[in-house]
Amino acid sequence: MSHDKLDRLMARGTEFLGTRWAIMGGAMSWISERNLVSAISNAGGFGVIACGAMPPELLDKEIAATKAMTDKPFGVNLITMHPDIDDLIDICARHEVSHVVLAGGLPSGKSIDRIKGNGAKLIAFAPALALAKKLKRSGVDALVVEGMEAGGHIGPVSTSVLAQEILPHVAADMPVFVAGGIGRGEAIAAYLEMGAVGVQLGTRFVCAHECIAHENFKKMFLRASARDAVPSVQIDPRLPVIPVRALKNRETENFSAKQREVAAKLDSGELEMGEAQLQIEHYWAGALKRAVIDGDVESGSVMAGQSVGMVKREEPIADIVKELVDEAAAALSNRG
Ligand SMILES: Cc1cc2nc3c(=O)[nH]c(=O)nc-3n(C[C@H](O)[C@H](O)[C@H](O)COP(=O)(O)O)c2cc1C
Repeated sequence: MSHDKLDRLMARGTEFLGTRWAIMGGAMSWISERNLVSAISNAGGFGVIACGAMPPELLDKEIAATKAMTDKPFGVNLITMHPDIDDLIDICARHEVSHVVLAGGLPSGKSIDRIKGNGAKLIAFAPALALAKKLKRSGVDALVVEGMEAGGHIGPVSTSVLAQEILPHVAADMPVFVAGGIGRGEAIAAYLEMGAVGVQLGTRFVCAHECIAHENFKKMFLRASARDAVPSVQIDPRLPVIPVRALKNRETENFSAKQREVAAKLDSGELEMGEAQLQIEHYWAGALKRAVIDGDVESGSVMAGQSVGMVKREEPIADIVKELVDEAAAALSNRG
């Protein structure tokens, strides 16, 4: 099958990433480590290490281990509010990581300058058009536009609406990757035709052979349909929590109980708002680890996007990437 049209539409994305295909493996805490990241990069995509709450020494080791498994480009995803963000940026620089992705809120000018000063390319998330323009002005090199169909922490707007709001106004000026709810190549083709230079997927890569997620976690993915991947519910209007999309289980109720507990401590003055929100964030990191690493998929958080219904079998990353690419190429050539 001819990939000419796909190659043309992805050209800015593949040039920006230095890859065969402009398909990013979205960073997933606990999951996007050396094995999955190197497998995605070796298959022609762009793997991204999830630093999450890792301390600097661990990130250092993870980057070194990933480099030992691939000579292809990969990125590192850092959370903007990590207390050691400066050290983490410096570790990326020491390893000459080519691309840094900043997630979890708007990046500070200081972080942007530090990353750019080190010579890395900087990718950030744009949750709205005004913020996309602001990020461009502040020196960010490329954007990910991620809709609420995605797994993990989500915003309120769907991928299809965000893509329409942002791509026509920004795509000519900087590379934009679309994420959230992409399970097949036909959707990749559609977003490329709308002006995206590439895409980012998370959910679709979880059941890869190379992914270290626990068998129980993968089994739940294989059984689930789109409607099982639901956002968490906010209990207390004073405690705004960023919703998390995950598969329905007992943990869904545990999270409500956790919110009530934290809200009560807010009431009694035992906790300040900032500390209360931090407790909620730490709760998620622990709950995801319980499910992904320990395999406790009842009381842990099985974060998954709505595309989970399109995950049909455990298979090598190379097969998943090939299937996505072939579907996208076929969809484009069918349009003549
Ligand atoms: C289990 C899981 C964990 C995730 N953890 C993170 C994370 O730590 N940091 C981040 O920026 N995005 C995280 N994401 C979002 C992914 O990077 C990616 O953008 C998203 O999965 C794309 O949407 P999709 O799931 O519909 O493919 C996570 C997603 C999943 C499914």
